[in-house]
Amino acid sequence: PSTPVKVTVTGAAGQIGYALLFRIASGQMLGPDTPVELNLLEITPALKAAEGTAMELDDCAFPLLRGINITDDATKAFDGVNVALLVGARPRSAGMERGDLLEANGGIFKPQGEAINAGAADDVKVLVVGNPANTNALIAQSHAPDVPAGRFTAMTRLDHNRALAQAAAKLDIGVDEISKMTIWGNHSASQYPDLFHAMADGKSIASQVDQDWLENTFIPTVAKRGAAIIEARGASSAASAANAAIDHVATWVQGTPEGDWTSAAVVSDGSYGVPEGLISSFPVTSDGTEWSIVQGLDIDEFSRGKIDASVAELGEERDAVKQLGLV
Ligand code: NAI
Repeated sequence: PSTPVKVTVTGAAGQIGYALLFRIASGQMLGPDTPVELNLLEITPALKAAEGTAMELDDCAFPLLRGINITDDATKAFDGVNVALLVGARPRSAGMERGDLLEANGGIFKPQGEAINAGAADDVKVLVVGNPANTNALIAQSHAPDVPAGRFTAMTRLDHNRALAQAAAKLDIGVDEISKMTIWGNHSASQYPDLFHAMADGKSIASQVDQDWLENTFIPTVAKRGAAIIEARGASSAASAANAAIDHVATWVQGTPEGDWTSAAVVSDGSYGVPEGLISSFPVTSDGTEWSIVQGLDIDEFSRGKIDASVAELGEERDAVKQLGLV
């Protein structure tokens, strides 16, 4: 189409923003035939830094980039938006309680949900990256009653990609030889990367590794990878997080390949015992427009316990934001 797709990125001057914007503008997210217009939303003190990033975007002379708007006004940023990447969030500072963190993020994601509700295009697709991503997505979604709930998603694709990389290294195969990987639950240390349904060489990966490695090496390595990156790099994962955001949206608009699925946190319809309305990670397919939760998988007892624990954490987060009047 010659009309550009409007993509809004919040937290545009941050680390992930810097790793993300150039890839969007080069066509890696929406494909080589789709021109884009970028809206960068930042807080007022970071507008100048966002302008610097925009100058560099100009200097790339990307043929698909049709315009850049920089603003600290959510209403302007989301006007007519087709793809919204909500990356900017309030990080946990030293000594901050979970309630304070959720409240601070409510102050960001409630008005952004309202602005999306008021101004977004009919086909808007929303990906929340900023943490706590699942609950931030729930807050935004609950303030956008006119947008179908399924358009609000939170990112577990980085966890999914981390699980692919760890499993491929263990089996000494390529990541492309693995299908049907799943991250269940919350994007937090309680997440459950599932090797029982993941397949390689026509067999479940769980059947090809020992339970001790699966339980005591694989799961904690994937779940705590973010902390390990901070420890090694002295900064949190940014390029890999941006890459996962690109993957999430690209899969959403292109669809999942036949016979495979991916992981994304989407609004639960009650599948697999996950309470309706929670934004939880599931095995999902996309038809190019909408996500669907893969149905009918058998859940073994070990997996059941892990899924339930992560979903319980999501329920606690929802109760906490309910008490704060944020949903
Ligand atoms: P960063 O601190 O470098 O950048 C965040 C940016 O957001 C800052 O420029 C800040 O000014 C901006 N911001 C804050 N409040 C805003 C608001 N109300 N509107 C617009 N912009 C606002 O952080 P980084 O490294 O870019 O990470 C961003 C978020 O992504 C963090 O919450 C981080 O925890 C999360 N994350 C999530 C991952 C996932 O897998 N879901 C993976 C990695 C990071």
